[in-house]
Amino acid sequence: MSLVLIRKNAPTDAWVAALAQHCPDLAVHVWPDIGPVQDVEFVLSWAADPGVIASFPNLRAVFSLGAGADHILHDATVPAHLPVARMIDPSLTAEMVQFVTLAVLGHTRSYRQLLAQQAQARWVRPEPVGKRVGIMGLGGLGTACATALTGMGLSCVGWSRSPKEVPGVRSYAGDAGLAEFLAHSDILVCLVPATPALAGVLGRKTFDALPRGAYVINVGRGEHLNEADLIDALQSGQLSGAWLDVFAKEPLPAEHVFWQHPAITVTPHIASATVPATAAAHVAENIRRARAGQPLAGQVDRALGY
Ligand code: GLV
Repeated sequence: MSLVLIRKNAPTDAWVAALAQHCPDLAVHVWPDIGPVQDVEFVLSWAADPGVIASFPNLRAVFSLGAGADHILHDATVPAHLPVARMIDPSLTAEMVQFVTLAVLGHTRSYRQLLAQQAQARWVRPEPVGKRVGIMGLGGLGTACATALTGMGLSCVGWSRSPKEVPGVRSYAGDAGLAEFLAHSDILVCLVPATPALAGVLGRKTFDALPRGAYVINVGRGEHLNEADLIDALQSGQLSGAWLDVFAKEPLPAEHVFWQHPAITVTPHIASATVPATAAAHVAENIRRARAGQPLAGQVDRALGY
């Protein structure tokens, strides 16, 4: 039986090697060279073209190469009964914590301003900024970020669809808790899943509920952001800046206004990447579970969309 790895325009050798080590009984094929189609038991993918996953008749499960499985769920042809799992990988979590820490501290320590001042040999101490962090989305990644930032002495609040308990983090839940959560977020970090209900959540209504001069970090998905509302909020001073790592259209087109905006930091969707050497263990465990008819680790609730 086999697994097909779908990772277009990206290296696959490290994945093939890691899977061979963790799943020695499994043939691994790299799309579009799939081997005998009836042998394909699993797909491990990032952004497969719509219809591709549905073309394997004997699939047991589909695994996302990333923390988000939205790229699989958005393909309406993926059979509804097929279990889908997001990636859970200690390296992916660690990288996200490091990246969010970088973005938060970059803002709280006025790093862009300091670099600009150095270029002009100007010795100026930046004005203090609001430092309370709000983590929107308390899943595995959001919880790890909230815990790490709290451990560094930053005050952190969290928000999620259903109530969550994270030690040292005041947590709010659902529509009822959103306004209060936002009112406590000088720095808003978006780590919610990409569900239709959360499309555009980083928009005018949310920005207006933040303290004036708040800072927004988007490491979720581009679809979470209403781009025009962000530009307006920066223009009016309701927001002081934003760090964007994900975009509705990637790569971000060279002519996009975000590139040159003085208050926006653009990074090319690099917050965290799955590391084959560690992530292959998660894939191997999910292969074992799928074959045993058990729920997958990180199995997506297809109704909830994450
Ligand atoms: C990347 O965006 C991921 O979902 O891991």
